[in-house]
Amino acid sequence: MGLLMELTHRCPLQCPYCSNPLEMDKPNIELSTAEWQDVLRQAAELGILQIHLSGGEPTARRDLEEIVKTAAEAGLYSNLITAGVLLTRERLQKLAENGLDHVQLSIQDADAENADRIAAYKGGLLKKREVGAWVKELGLPLTVNAPLHRQNIENLPKIIDLALELGAGRLEVAHIQYYAWALKNRAALMPTRAQFMRTVEIVEEARERLKGILVFDFVVPDYYAKYPKPCMGGWGSGIMNITPSGKVLPCHAAESLPGLEFDNVKTRRLADIWLNGPAFQKFRGTDWMKEPCRSCDRREIDFGGCRCQAFALTGDATNTDPACSLSSLHAEWVKVADIESAKPAPEFVYRRIGGDKPKRETA
Ligand code: SF4
Ligand code: FES
Repeated sequence: MGLLMELTHRCPLQCPYCSNPLEMDKPNIELSTAEWQDVLRQAAELGILQIHLSGGEPTARRDLEEIVKTAAEAGLYSNLITAGVLLTRERLQKLAENGLDHVQLSIQDADAENADRIAAYKGGLLKKREVGAWVKELGLPLTVNAPLHRQNIENLPKIIDLALELGAGRLEVAHIQYYAWALKNRAALMPTRAQFMRTVEIVEEARERLKGILVFDFVVPDYYAKYPKPCMGGWGSGIMNITPSGKVLPCHAAESLPGLEFDNVKTRRLADIWLNGPAFQKFRGTDWMKEPCRSCDRREIDFGGCRCQAFALTGDATNTDPACSLSSLHAEWVKVADIESAKPAPEFVYRRIGGDKPKRETA
């Protein structure tokens, strides 16, 4: 169904919940334009429908226009996942002319000062307002993605208003998922249960009020859920992820799992990797499951949750994700959220190589 192309790990922002791995690919090992174009043609042959151009910040690649053009020629629906701050109107117009189908713009907060602090980037919100206006002028559909956490959660009503101002047709209110940088910053990001419950009410009310104007996607934090999400829609079932250097992963965090071998598009065809690659076979379907998942009615609904989270929290990727209330570890795990969210938030560890203090950017 979908191919997530992490074109680069370079990014001018330093969000402390970034889904990129803690060890990022350096620019000198990124795939070339021709290699990405070959990936796109192979993806279309394989029957993939949508590509998501992601990063890092995909607009940091100077060849983005060529990549988009090839995607359109191959008949792929393309979605640009961007923070927007590097875009110019001219460049966005060129991308639209080359066949870009959709823009997904991330925002850190509706409060400009707090948004700057979260991303460690000055003037970001002002730039995003400009980008939203250009997207509208060019007639492209816009999704706004708003990662939500304890340091912006009280501004959710304003974030909804901002999405409307930007002309979005869809808003993802996405409570943080605690992998990679977000796991490092969990105590600084975790909201209280009461704060989370309030966001459920706000989204339900807004969904009703804005029917036909703004569609909501609401991503619940695992720590306050009864059952886990089917991570990636199930391992190796609908989505592939390619890193900047060409490694093909079943999910963006799969490299955190020990003992898996990942193929590279430089040495193996995409179709072969999808069908036969050892990493894709490892947790595909339900045969790998242990109890309680093995005999559970929901095993083909959530596929046991997230393998990377199960490994990070239990040391065994074949265990039930502790996000599940049927996991023997669930009750203990949930306590972590209650304890951390009740304490004052520590300083962010920013997403940068060596990451602690933010490296200041100017707009
Ligand atoms: Fe899902 Fe496994 Fe929990 Fe059942 S036991 S709900 S399959 S995670
Ligand atoms: Fe890897 Fe969920 S992030 S399976």
